[in-house]
Order: sequence, then C-alpha cells, then structure tokens
Amino acid sequence: MQTLLQQINDTAAYLQKFNYHQAKAGIVLGTGLGELVQHIQVEKSIPYHEIPHFPESTVESHKGQLIFGRIGAVPVIAMQGRFHYYEGYTMQQITFPIRVMKALGIQHLLLSNAAGGMNPAFKKGDLVLLDDHINLQPESPLRGLNSPAFGTRFPDMSSPYDKNLGQLLLQAAADKGCTLHKGVYVSVMGPNLETRAEYRFLRMIGADMVGMSTVPEVIVANQLQLPCAAVSVITDECDPDNLHPVSIEEIIAVAGKADEKLSSIFAEVVKRIS
Ligand code: HPA
Repeated sequence: MQTLLQQINDTAAYLQKFNYHQAKAGIVLGTGLGELVQHIQVEKSIPYHEIPHFPESTVESHKGQLIFGRIGAVPVIAMQGRFHYYEGYTMQQITFPIRVMKALGIQHLLLSNAAGGMNPAFKKGDLVLLDDHINLQPESPLRGLNSPAFGTRFPDMSSPYDKNLGQLLLQAAADKGCTLHKGVYVSVMGPNLETRAEYRFLRMIGADMVGMSTVPEVIVANQLQLPCAAVSVITDECDPDNLHPVSIEEIIAVAGKADEKLSSIFAEVVKRIS
C-alpha cells in the first residue's frame, strides 16, 4: 500500500497536469454552499471519483468536484463539497484534499460550513466568522503521522484562524453592507443533530455555533502552516428552551438563501489577497 505521502504527491502530480498548481488560494464549500462557483471562471472541473486517492462524497447536497479557475485574476482551487467523519471516512481521508492543495502550492485557505446557531444573537441566514473553535470530534487528523514531512508534530493552536484573512473577510462584508458576526465553532461528529441538553452543554462550554466539519481541515492547515479562515452560515436556531424539529432539507434551503452573500464576500477576499 502506498504511504499517505506518496498518495499526496501522486494526486498533486495528476492535478498539476491540469494547471491546479497555479492556484494561490484553496476554498472548501460547505453544505448547500456552491454558489461561489458563479464567481469563478472555471477552467477545469474534475469529479472526485476521477481523482486518484480522493474519497467520493456521499452527501447528496455536495456536488463532489474539484474546480480550478480564476476569481478576477487570482487562480483558485475550489472544493465543491467536502468529506465528513460521519460519512465513515477516516480523519486522514477527510483532510487529504487540504494536504494535496498545500502540496500544489496554495497560500491561503477559505472554508465555509452550515452550522446551528446557539448564541441567541445569531439568526437563521446570518454569517459568522470563526474566531476560535472547540474540537469535540472523536479523533485527530494528525494521529499517527510521525514524519516531519507532514509538518510539526505538535502544532500550536493559540491562533488557528489567520488574523489577516479574518480582517479581509470583515472588511469585504462591511463594504457589501453585510453583517459578519464573530464566534466560537464547536465541531461534533454527527450526523444526528443535538438534543436540548447537548445544546445547553455546548453553549455552556463556550461555543456560539455547532457543526460537523471544518475543524479537522483547520487542524491540518495549522500543521501545514497554511493561513486559513472559515465562515459559518447559521442554518437553524438552537435554543434549548424553544427548540423546533429541523430537517436537513431546511438546513440546505437556509444555506442556499445565504449563499449569495457569502459567495460575494469570499470572491472579494480572494481578489484582495492576490
Ligand atoms: N448541529 C450540528 N450541525 C449542524 C447544525 C446543528 O444544529 N445545523 C447545521 N449543521
């Protein structure tokens, strides 16, 4: 069996044939959040199942393709759909595309996700910049990777989200007249949503929103010293004292409505990081 490092190099070499190594930024689009593609002059789009060593997305709301193109003059790679632990993948599979994009030479990483809002100030459709996170997923994507080729063994996490990228996002949002809150994201395994008692607990430990992704990718980005920033779209309001049933269809619909403003902010930031 090939080692993870060989696989990363293999996949990067395959994508290089289609110019993906020119990309300056990588973008990971979360559940129901595909609109950014409208801002990209797409030069190549490859379904995940055609890319060597890529896992295949099993979530219907995720398109599952890796796009190379330009936003303005800036070459980017966009993941239309990501991988989640609850789908059954290992943490190393989930974060494999981040390592490949870094091997290809990206210098910035932007991520989006759909999240439940626990901070009562957050309403459905709001955007929140991740200021910090709490990892409650069951495993680390760094477990077992002992080679220095993966990056430092014990990455510092005192500031996991890049301040400059965060500032660019806040400024782009302000310029567009959009509110971009700041908050702490807690990642859980899913795929079930939380009970009232769990929302109460997650709020109590300091989280403002909850979701099932992003943190593994951010941990790997930190190991790779790849500056990253992430934005949550609040898709449901998680007030334990007034909790309504919510379906994945509703979550996707709310994400879809906020997608346009999120995408225009991401597109603006990419143009400004050039
Ligand atoms: N909990 C966990 N993940 C989520 C939620 C939620 O309430 N909403 C969207 N993703």
